Amino acid sequence: MAPLRSSVVGLPVLAACVMAAASYPAIPADLTTPVQQRIAIKGPNSISVGWNTYQQLSKSCVQYGISSGSLNSETCSTSSVTYATSRTWSNAVTLSGLSPATTYYYKIVSTNSSIEHFFSPRLAGDTTPFTMNAVIDLGIYGADGYTIQGDLTKKDTIPQIQPSLNHTTIGRLTTTVNDYELVVHPGDFAYADDWFVKIKNLFVGEDAYEAILEQFYDQLAPIAGRKAYMASPGNHEADCQEIPNTAGLCPTGQKNFTDFMNRFGMTMPTAFISTSRNDTAKINANKAQQLANPPFWYSFEYGMVHVVMIDTETDFTNAPDGPGGSAGLDGGPFGAPNQQLEFLETDLASVDRTVTPWLVLGGHRPWYSTGGGRNICAPCQAAFEPLLYKYGVDLAIFGHVHNSQRFQPVYKGVADPKGLNDPAAPMYIVAGGAGNIEGLSSVGTNVSYNAFAYADDFSYATVSFQDANNLEVEFIRSLTGETLDSSVLHKSHTQHFVRQ
Ligand SMILES: *[C@@H]1O[C@H](CO)[C@@H](O)[C@H](O)[C@H]1NC(C)=O
Ligand SMILES: *[C@@H]1O[C@H](CO)[C@@H](O)[C@H](O)[C@H]1NC(C)=O
Ligand SMILES: *[C@@H]1O[C@H](CO)[C@@H](O)[C@H](O)[C@H]1NC(C)=O
Ligand SMILES: *[C@@H]1O[C@H](CO)[C@@H](O)[C@H](O)[C@H]1NC(C)=O
Ligand SMILES: *[C@@H]1O[C@H](CO)[C@@H](O)[C@H](O)[C@H]1NC(C)=O
Repeated sequence: MAPLRSSVVGLPVLAACVMAAASYPAIPADLTTPVQQRIAIKGPNSISVGWNTYQQLSKSCVQYGISSGSLNSETCSTSSVTYATSRTWSNAVTLSGLSPATTYYYKIVSTNSSIEHFFSPRLAGDTTPFTMNAVIDLGIYGADGYTIQGDLTKKDTIPQIQPSLNHTTIGRLTTTVNDYELVVHPGDFAYADDWFVKIKNLFVGEDAYEAILEQFYDQLAPIAGRKAYMASPGNHEADCQEIPNTAGLCPTGQKNFTDFMNRFGMTMPTAFISTSRNDTAKINANKAQQLANPPFWYSFEYGMVHVVMIDTETDFTNAPDGPGGSAGLDGGPFGAPNQQLEFLETDLASVDRTVTPWLVLGGHRPWYSTGGGRNICAPCQAAFEPLLYKYGVDLAIFGHVHNSQRFQPVYKGVADPKGLNDPAAPMYIVAGGAGNIEGLSSVGTNVSYNAFAYADDFSYATVSFQDANNLEVEFIRSLTGETLDSSVLHKSHTQHFVRQ
């Protein structure tokens, strides 16, 4: 979240110095080698596969099938995109027509790649219980980022994980890989814009920024290449420095969410066609599909849940990272005036609770947080909260503040008297404690509707859809795997289309 108040503020960037060097990963001899793999739910029966290469591909292909011995389907695309200052190209292929809830094996076509696997999306309406993790504000681990002292004794189930990562949130996501089916990460990846915090990077700014992105997305690949990993923007995606009003000093390619758009623009979904029998719902879902603008705002359905991801950085009144916004990051707008809010309203209005009883929203900046002040995004509250309430969002997941927090269901600062037992107001959590170079944020001043807050160690949240009426949220301490807080939200979901 917060800008670091560093004595190097205002230091621009981009002096090149032959003596200094950014910590770039080694470029593989075989330039078709896939790196930074990531998959996402792209549609009701489709998964997108994204990866980078150190050369442009004229054709990017993925082979797949339901057994590792017969990858008998192949899909290709011709898009292989890059931007100024990047050493790599982003490639993306969408695998369509998948059988739902099935393990598929896939191989990114290269003379140097291996077979991986994923679980295809559950269809909307599938009532099988499952868990979705919420991991936010996760940065690079190691010399350019955060590290952890201590006894590293965790076992990894994913063979390619770097041993040094087996003690972090990424390590915990590997040891628990069979316990969750997808991950939502609404904002703040890598923390490349904090490159200047490490003295060794001071003279290689432009390269240091890219080196952090390359390393981070390699670190994330063992998870993001196997589990649908759903991304939306945070302030650290905006530009090369988080120091207000220095966006103009960033080089072309390191402003205005460029890497984020290149990386996730082709892999995130728009919105799904409605499977409701209600024509109004179908029309609203179609409108939402037109208004969606991935990877900034979009929605998807998975089993019992409809998930909508929003952009708390740009594209609404007084958006903090928008032109002239309070953060001074000068990003966006990415849609037409009011497009994001029209998307959100039509998308929420389309949700048929007899198909997907649960409605969950993910965004970066919260408006409920302990600590007050700059932890709270008042323009976000003004723009979004009335819609969340009106359409009965059950759970809203945010980050930005680097710790774990849970709130009683609350609306306009007033706790819902029904608590967790069929409240009208959304339940809010902050799951921003995953770990990054800026460290954890102290809990700070309390608010009366807070139910849990933890800032002693790195942590993340698991959201388990038990059935149509019960949703369990747990906060997990990454180091030990212990449950720090557990709660069950009960909703009767008796209204077919919630309006309140
Ligand atoms: C093949 O890929 C692996 C990583 O997956 C990499 O370490 C190795 O250097 C690559 N080999 C060549 C010849 O590029
Ligand atoms: C995890 O880290 C510890 C300490 O560095 C190491 O002994 C262990 O082998 C690592 N585990 C894996 C699977 O890499
Ligand atoms: C369809 O849904 C709308 C709300 O979106 C509702 O007002 C209307 O009554 C529903 N129609 C039927 C036939 O259920
Ligand atoms: C950022 O990119 C968007 C989409 O390409 C564009 O419309 C907008 O004007 C850009 N904003 C700035 C500040 O350059
Ligand atoms: C904040 O206050 C609430 C209500 O008194 C309490 O339940 C909660 O434990 C407090 N949280 C912290 C972090 O002290």
